[in-house]
Amino acid sequence: MNPINTLNSVLLHPNSCCGTDLETWLNSGGGKGLETALHDSTALIPIIKEADLRGLGGSGFPTYKKWERIASQPNEGERYLVCNGNEDEPGTFKDRTLLEDAPHQVIEGALITALAVAINNIIFYIHPKQKKSLENIRQAVMLWQKSRYIKAIEKKLGCPLTIRIMTSSGHYVDGEETAAIESIEGKFPFPRGKPPFPTQQGINNKPTLVNNIETLANIPHIIRHGAPWYRNLGLGQASGTKLYSLSGDVLSPGVYELPMGVPLDTLIFNVGGGILGSKKLKAVFTGGPSNTLFTAKDLDVPLDFDSVAQRQASLGTGTIIVIAEGNSIVKRVTEYINFFALSSCGQCPPCKIGTYHISLLLTKFNNGHAEREDLETLIHLSKILPDSGRCHLPNGVAKVLESTLYYFMDEYEKNIKSNKLTRKNG
Ligand SMILES: Cc1cc2nc3c(=O)[nH]c(=O)nc-3n(C[C@H](O)[C@H](O)[C@H](O)COP(=O)(O)O)c2cc1C
Ligand code: SF4
Repeated sequence: MNPINTLNSVLLHPNSCCGTDLETWLNSGGGKGLETALHDSTALIPIIKEADLRGLGGSGFPTYKKWERIASQPNEGERYLVCNGNEDEPGTFKDRTLLEDAPHQVIEGALITALAVAINNIIFYIHPKQKKSLENIRQAVMLWQKSRYIKAIEKKLGCPLTIRIMTSSGHYVDGEETAAIESIEGKFPFPRGKPPFPTQQGINNKPTLVNNIETLANIPHIIRHGAPWYRNLGLGQASGTKLYSLSGDVLSPGVYELPMGVPLDTLIFNVGGGILGSKKLKAVFTGGPSNTLFTAKDLDVPLDFDSVAQRQASLGTGTIIVIAEGNSIVKRVTEYINFFALSSCGQCPPCKIGTYHISLLLTKFNNGHAEREDLETLIHLSKILPDSGRCHLPNGVAKVLESTLYYFMDEYEKNIKSNKLTRKNG
């Protein structure tokens, strides 16, 4: 194994990946973060702030800020934590790995979070297709419930702590934080308008914190080892490590954990083994298929939230889909945008109609039946779609469409019917 694969690994370290056996987790240092939190819960938010932990569910939003928001709400009984494991975007499979192989660090992270911001209801919210994740988290939670820790947490909170495992309704949009709240309330997963934010009014109108599975998994390690330790794991200004779901035309696809700030080419070539068939790189969907593309000129980009944002892209969930030379970008983006158009919940007409329209036009390009006007319409739609809905789904569609139009206009042009005829006749 290349040394970079194991360098600074925390979440995927063999000690963390101990399956559902709680004893093994506790014997390898698990539980120490929770002990610290039980000793002094007021120190937790400052430590997470100093560590610069970011939300790893796509936004990169500072975790401590959301924690401060919920902590500042009046404490009138119920408060909820949703551990978001819906993870349904194409090419994304890192949370599933954590839930299947390393559930105890996720649960300990949720318990510490509950102490940090006085939460008395924890909900593990998981996509119904993730049978193994559901099975393992159920088993692991059962073991924690039999342990001495839950009583100690309840004593500290001054009230009972409930832990539930719920499945989403199985839609991609279920993962959006307010849709998750609707779904948990037993309704269709329609994202809500904001404000009010979930930290103000979430489940049953009570303060609700939604955090991603990978975000939560980091917490016991940070509390156990301290903020400076976590900051030092990253390269340059970046903190911690990041999980990548690496797929597409690479020799060794999989989930990898690397220090935050490792360059994109290290991930693809040193860790992922390079491009299949020793072909050249054509493009990389970085941060998932609803983000700006990178091409070979950006292979040096350090993979951390700020460096990727400086190149007008987003690290997102750390989903990296590699496309080798010779493969059609139009075909790939058509598949992704078909998925997003089908996933649009339909509450906001511009999103539903706009994504559907784009999907139809892309299908025409993909089949070689497009007209020149279709290209103009695509460009227009990519400009008017952002911020047209309650959630970020249309923004993601516009971003990926716009960047494929920018980098691969020649592919779109080649698929215009009249150009094909001209080339044949000429
Ligand atoms: C359409 C859509 C789907 C989303 N799906 C997920 C998901 O499956 N898991 C997740 O953690 N966040 C998802 N998010 C982001 C959440 O709304 C939210 O930002 C995240 O769960 C917060 O956790 P974090 O602060 O720990 O990153 C989605 C957002 C959108 C717009
Ligand atoms: S933007 Fe799209 S997916 Fe989001 S709430 Fe509106 S219709 Fe639904």
